[in-house]
Amino acid sequence: MPTVFIETYGCQMNVSDSELMLGTLAAEGYVAVDGPEDADVVLLNTCAIREHAETRVIGRLGELRRFLKKDAVLGVTGCMAQRLGPRLLDSDSRVSLVIGPDGYRALPTLIESARKGERMTSTDFDLEEHYEDVQASRFDGVKAWIPVQRGCDYRCTYCIVPFTRGNERSRQLEDVVRETAAVVAQGLTEVVLLGQTVNSYHDGARDFADLLRAVGAVPGLQRLRFTSPHPNDFSDRVIAAMADVATVCEHVHLPMQSGSSRTLKRMLRRYSRAEYLDCVARLRAAIPGLGLTTDIIVGFPGETDEEFAETLSAVREIGFDDAFMFKFSPREGTPATRFPASETVPEDVVDARFDELMKTVRGMSRDRNFRRVGERTEVLVEKEARKGELMQARSRDFKTVLVPGDRTLIGQYLHVELTGTTGSTFTGQVVRERKALPTAG
Ligand code: 5AD
Ligand code: SF4
Repeated sequence: MPTVFIETYGCQMNVSDSELMLGTLAAEGYVAVDGPEDADVVLLNTCAIREHAETRVIGRLGELRRFLKKDAVLGVTGCMAQRLGPRLLDSDSRVSLVIGPDGYRALPTLIESARKGERMTSTDFDLEEHYEDVQASRFDGVKAWIPVQRGCDYRCTYCIVPFTRGNERSRQLEDVVRETAAVVAQGLTEVVLLGQTVNSYHDGARDFADLLRAVGAVPGLQRLRFTSPHPNDFSDRVIAAMADVATVCEHVHLPMQSGSSRTLKRMLRRYSRAEYLDCVARLRAAIPGLGLTTDIIVGFPGETDEEFAETLSAVREIGFDDAFMFKFSPREGTPATRFPASETVPEDVVDARFDELMKTVRGMSRDRNFRRVGERTEVLVEKEARKGELMQARSRDFKTVLVPGDRTLIGQYLHVELTGTTGSTFTGQVVRERKALPTAG
């Protein structure tokens, strides 16, 4: 039987795509292996969001040359493949396949051609493609990533995603519900709905509020999450559905990007600082105990000291539980690369702003976390922690909690008391085990 090794970079959507690729290949008799050395086919499923994501892949391709079997097929898939297309074949003679996010259905045939010595690029967009008939081979035994939408119709000026994943399209609600019921039947009790702006989901007749209500009511489902939403798509209907549906977890990852209306305007985020704050206020009012995390970019072209100060003050005002922070990385072809060179923020200024933001975010989340010690919460045990003898679990509001125990606990829900925190993760003691909720919905 032919063997395949897939290495995944980037976001959850890419993890989910890797599961679909593996599913496509498994249906053709391929067997997944744990490393590139033994594989007949090695695929790097790549990300293009920042330059660093791409340099890692280039480095990895160089390194892989030494491990690969002589006749192994090496392919690059995902966002970097879509962005660079044939340029990847030109720059690396060992690579024989370059396949964008809408081309995975043809993987088996493309691999066959590559085995015969052909070198190919497949980067056409397919607005109908949802891989509806593909059975994903899931990597995670506790939670399931379920894509509900592909592509993106926003055009944030820094972002490469509209170029790498094309326009937005949503799956039919029934298909998402059916997939949820299938994963629950397999014993997975947490589902994460995925989309580039997941709450703009619309299948022609049903919106994201309808989707949350329908998926959230699948019997046996315990936890429902989604990522990543756009602030402008949090309609009252969607927020009401989140509040009503018991399985929807009390956590939102809500990318802010900047706390300055002027910067937000240049980013074409389509909301102001005040509108973002209002969205946070509406979510917090509807969902008590909401965990809130975000993404922030520093050093966007033209960002002044005053604008950066507005980001810091927004962070202080909101009090995020955590944030992913990024230094602006210019991406070829995006509108932000066409701002005048004089707007480029000098590297030392970006570095200093990044450090200050990091300190502010971390300091605030530390304070918030220390105040939580002593509370009781429900956690789902996900995997072994890196530190011995402990298991890593997660609360509904997305806190990482380390609990004593062994692998037999994986997939179980526990009631724990938060006994300590490093400032970012918690330790917990089991108060009692919890059996499944009687019914979801
Ligand atoms: N430079 C830096 N960060 C970026 N992001 C997206 N594009 C860029 C870029 N060109 C960040 C945003 C987004 C997250 C996934 O990555 O914060 O929310
Ligand atoms: Fe995901 Fe964006 Fe990276 Fe593509 S470019 S893998 S959509 S984070």
